[in-house]
Amino acid sequence: MDPVQVNLGGVPETLLWNLYQRATEARQDHPVLRDPKAVALVEAIDYPFAARFGSGELGQWQALRAATFDREVRRFLGTHPDGTVVALGEGLETQFWRVDNGRVHWLTVDLPETVEVRTRLLGTATGRQSVAAVSALDPAWMDQVDPRRGVLVTAQGLLMYLQPAEVHGLVADLAQRFPGAELVLDGVPPWFSQRTQAGQMRTKQGYVTPPMPWALDAAERRRLLAIPGVDEVRDLVPPRGRGPLHGWVAPVVNRSARVRALGLTGLPILRLRFAAA
Ligand SMILES: C[S@@+](CC[C@H](N)C(=O)[O-])C[C@H]1O[C@@H](n2cnc3c(N)ncnc32)[C@H](O)[C@@H]1O
Repeated sequence: MDPVQVNLGGVPETLLWNLYQRATEARQDHPVLRDPKAVALVEAIDYPFAARFGSGELGQWQALRAATFDREVRRFLGTHPDGTVVALGEGLETQFWRVDNGRVHWLTVDLPETVEVRTRLLGTATGRQSVAAVSALDPAWMDQVDPRRGVLVTAQGLLMYLQPAEVHGLVADLAQRFPGAELVLDGVPPWFSQRTQAGQMRTKQGYVTPPMPWALDAAERRRLLAIPGVDEVRDLVPPRGRGPLHGWVAPVVNRSARVRALGLTGLPILRLRFAAA
């Protein structure tokens, strides 16, 4: 197969960073996340991954983040085996193939230029998989969801790129449209958000992370909980990884409510539950 050209910029290009990190981890002897499809995608894409992003030093960190989302999807499918997972800003995530139980319904929601790339690389979504090529902020995608079998919405690596008012509006819309559903999301701490907005987050190779205006700390958790229809906001702790940092330090730090309150954890991941109708 000829290498596939991918020309993305701005926020959509960040999906290649995530994919590359996951694939780098998946190539390890004992990966924290098995993801052969991510490896195949990186091999198929004509893009200077190493020249832009380095050698994938954050692979394990990224894979543990994805593993936390996988755990939530599997937990949801345990009680809703033929429920609907809506993956907002899915990019080239290969989660469907990691968690598919043969019954789940899956809706990918992403921007048109990203959906075009996803379709070229992963094929047209058919059967239990479908796609909405619109912004997550466009409520049109919600009409594609049949809520009767249960709904889990994920937003992995998306909300930090939105404005705070957009995040709050989206959460309010989801709570109203999908009573009883859950939303799993991740964010970045305020210091990280500030650095991206100052253009100071760059790889050694010169790739500059786009601005991340939405930050997640204790005050923001309270704001999310105050949104009408949000019943519960729960912190999720990633699984234990390999080595001193991911095997010992991160698990202790991520479990500390005080560290979380200070916005110092590297991996704030939350599950929101919406009030039932
Ligand atoms: C960092 S990537 C995350 C991709 C994937 N979720 C992952 O974790 O590998 C950000 C993704 O958000 C998408 N995106 C950016 N703005 C969006 C919006 N308003 N609505 C839906 N998707 C958006 C981009 O196209 C890209 O796929």
